[in-house]
Amino acid sequence: MGLQCKYVAFLGAKCCLQHKKTFSFIDLFAGAGGFSLGLKNAGLKHVYGLDNWPVSCKTYVANIGTTICSSIEILEPPVLNLGVDLLVASPPCQAFSLANRRGSNAAENSSLYLHILKFLNLYRPKLFVLENVSGILSYKSKIGLPIIKLVKDAFSSDYNVKIFKICCSDFGVAQNRKRVIIIGVRKDINLFFPNLKKHPCTTTLRSFVLPRIEVSDSFFLSKKAISGIHRRQLTNGAKSYGFGAQYVDLDAFCNTITANY
Ligand SMILES: C[S@@+](CC[C@H](N)C(=O)[O-])C[C@H]1O[C@@H](n2cnc3c(N)ncnc32)[C@H](O)[C@@H]1O
Repeated sequence: MGLQCKYVAFLGAKCCLQHKKTFSFIDLFAGAGGFSLGLKNAGLKHVYGLDNWPVSCKTYVANIGTTICSSIEILEPPVLNLGVDLLVASPPCQAFSLANRRGSNAAENSSLYLHILKFLNLYRPKLFVLENVSGILSYKSKIGLPIIKLVKDAFSSDYNVKIFKICCSDFGVAQNRKRVIIIGVRKDINLFFPNLKKHPCTTTLRSFVLPRIEVSDSFFLSKKAISGIHRRQLTNGAKSYGFGAQYVDLDAFCNTITANY
């Protein structure tokens, strides 16, 4: 009799979960739970999230479930009774973001990803997925080495690692948001390496925006806030950093939406 397989669609690939009912995951640098929400909606079983920002942990608990509110730098991963099939992690992107100055904070943040290794070593998940901004592809370490190579080398001893550059609008989202997805498949596992299957977004911003009359004034920026945005746009533009602001075409995709407002 052949092996019984339960398949889970994962970034367009189909993974065979032999004799398992659900695929479990942990989410490091989980923030308010955007990544976890997608995984839960795809039918995966959440084990825990981790973030060091109490406000986002509170949101995570309300929307997703168990989270550990601690810095990954000091936390020893908890020993679990059940296995972890997938580890996802979105280390802070400020270090690599093209919209940010790559300053002192950046150097500190850019090595945070190394703390992910202790979770991989303990749980030995079948897969990991790291997510970051496209700036990670060009960022260099203090001694001039490409950070993407350092990341790939650090995660390659037990995992086959592949790097993808994607744009969210190629995957059903009305946003021109470019991201780098680093996928690792444990070397001893006979999993199909994901081929990213694009499904371009067929809607535009208009389908997400409510008619003006249905939205309370309290959700709109004040004149003062708008003039502040214009002012910062000019000063940031002069220094060549920072996200700009623009009026968007409702019949197109928008650029990356920042979390400020
Ligand atoms: C790019 S955001 C994560 C976004 C999240 N994955 C989502 O889908 O919404 C990075 C997160 O890393 C967290 N973070 C930064 N430094 C950290 C540290 N030392 N330990 C744990 N979390 C940290 C931040 O609080 C932030 O929520």
